[in-house]
Amino acid sequence: MRETTPKGLHRLAFGGDYNPEQWPESVWQEDVRLMREAGVTMVSVGIFSWALLEPEPGTYDFGWLDRILDLLHENDVRVDLGTPTVAPPAWFYRAHPEALPVSREGVRYSYGSRGAICHSSPAYREAAARITTQLARRYATHPALALWHVHNEYGVPVSACYCDTCADGFRRWLDARHGSVEAVNEAWGTAFWGQHYTSYEQIDPPRLTPTVGNPAQQLDYRRFADATMRENFRAERDVLHRLSPGVPVTTNFMTALSQSDSVDYWAWGREVDLVTNDHYLITDGRRTHVNLAMAADLTRSVAGGAPWLLLEHSTSGVNWQPRNPAKRPGEMARNSLAHVARGSEGAMFFQWRQSRRGAEKFHSSMVPHAGTDSRVWREVVRLGADLDSLAGLRGTRTVPDVAMVWDWHSWWAQSLEWRPTEDHEARERADAFYETLYDRHLTVDFAHPEADLSAYPLVVVPALYLTTEAAGRNLREYVENGGTLVVSYFSGIVDEHDAVHPGAYPGALRDVLGLTVEEWSPLGEGESVRITGPDGASLTGDVWTEFVVERGARPVWTYADGPAAGRPAVTRHRLGEGTAWYVSTRLDTASLDVILSAACEDAGIEPRVELPRDVEVVRRSGDGGDFLFALNHTAHDVKVPLESPGTELLGGEHAAGHLPVPAGSVRVVRLDA
Ligand code: GLA
Ligand code: ZN
Repeated sequence: MRETTPKGLHRLAFGGDYNPEQWPESVWQEDVRLMREAGVTMVSVGIFSWALLEPEPGTYDFGWLDRILDLLHENDVRVDLGTPTVAPPAWFYRAHPEALPVSREGVRYSYGSRGAICHSSPAYREAAARITTQLARRYATHPALALWHVHNEYGVPVSACYCDTCADGFRRWLDARHGSVEAVNEAWGTAFWGQHYTSYEQIDPPRLTPTVGNPAQQLDYRRFADATMRENFRAERDVLHRLSPGVPVTTNFMTALSQSDSVDYWAWGREVDLVTNDHYLITDGRRTHVNLAMAADLTRSVAGGAPWLLLEHSTSGVNWQPRNPAKRPGEMARNSLAHVARGSEGAMFFQWRQSRRGAEKFHSSMVPHAGTDSRVWREVVRLGADLDSLAGLRGTRTVPDVAMVWDWHSWWAQSLEWRPTEDHEARERADAFYETLYDRHLTVDFAHPEADLSAYPLVVVPALYLTTEAAGRNLREYVENGGTLVVSYFSGIVDEHDAVHPGAYPGALRDVLGLTVEEWSPLGEGESVRITGPDGASLTGDVWTEFVVERGARPVWTYADGPAAGRPAVTRHRLGEGTAWYVSTRLDTASLDVILSAACEDAGIEPRVELPRDVEVVRRSGDGGDFLFALNHTAHDVKVPLESPGTELLGGEHAAGHLPVPAGSVRVVRLDA
């Protein structure tokens, strides 16, 4: 499963979402001519085409899709074929208004956009299975078919429906998970505010309540919604596997979505034949290339380290942020190759030809409104050539240095209401830890808290609020066996039901960290504290402080002021063969780096000081060879030291000693064996 690549694709994937139905067929001829010019190898077709493919219930019109698939095949372009189940036709909704999802507030959404789906709806499931079956029967053996693309971005724009059908589904799901109403009462802690239930029938989705609802109920509802979407994915996938054997099935993820109502991609990663991801630059003032690297690392990790595929990103600006800047010259290629460095077997875009109509007409594309006499088009053609010269790295794997523990369930739990402070955000801590590791030029794998961590010299755990007992044991064994662990505050607090582990915080991590926490004392807005270290140095923390009691751990940094003045702020615990660090306040990335530097020393990780900031060096390695990517995100020319000589693949030149990487450019060296 894991090594799956699109069928018949012998180069890196390069292309985009292609919506030929938006254009007269005369334009298709120009499309394929331009695809050849740019070296397009694969396009995604039909993702939103249900209403055209099945204009009336049970009446199909595949003529146009036949013609475009044939045309693409004649032009040597492989096809990632969508099942259009994210956009049911109007006739379906007229017949089944109950399949429209209902918001938490009880408002039923309307159709006329996309993604208006109640995933529990039997009518929707039947209709989705029917169109998927038709497509699979018709195109299973089409010579252009390389990959099946089920649905689109499960979980957005609606992450959960709160209708009565879902309520019934939730009750059945609860029974399967907990076994009895009594067990649900126990797990949710309903001996509180009169929430006790005496039958399943009394239990509803966590709909709008006057004040905060039951947190464990909300957490279970996220799990239910996630499982229900996954069930629907599996249903389509199984039809495709049965009728179209040998063609891998995917659905496009958004692994680094910064919304906490994201789906659980650890679970999704196990269901697809090939992990694919969509990534867009979030222009909120932070370093976009760091966020991109994190998304790519997370996607690779969800794929179990195997190659994956970037199915969508943008050639230039998007259209759905408050402000949508164009990419700078060279930025698109840098983005694309950064994904490839971190395991993507190509770079695909949304979308091929920029729409003239509809909600996405101002979203950039490979063929922009400006036409081919444009910077974007010239860069697209150049990228096609660059990717062509990298075909030899297919199947190689990105080489990780360290791991970060990551769990969507913990994130969901942590984002519920009434926490010690609203200034703490789980994702913010993960971003900060990631950025610090990125700036130390370390390649990060993400790992589930219960996964085997023994391959990593250093593991960081940013705010793992929900930590199961098994995860706690896992982290402890990791340290006992010689690992170096760095844990941030608000970790190890609750179990899988959002119930606080018995005893003092952090219940699941007390032993491994060698400490307890008596109380938290989050700081006021704009407030900060000073912590002082071994040689009198001082760092600044904000948002969070707490009263740490050492029980085996040694204080390394101490609170100099603030509510916990005089108490340990950062501790180090020698346990078995390893070391566990604990950071009890929110440090910015520069301060965090001081702590991570000490932890890296414990872990025996050499600093890569010779590399300047924002110069990214990543390796892919495997049977195909050893490939070093050097990405220069700065405005200055730099030189990157090479461990061994090789051939620079984008320019075809011999490379040895110090590799020049001009400002904003990328170099890829195939190192000599
Ligand atoms: C998502 C969708 C695409 C398109 C892009 C625009 O990734 O999958 O259909 O809407 O966003 O950025
Ligand atoms: Zn529903």
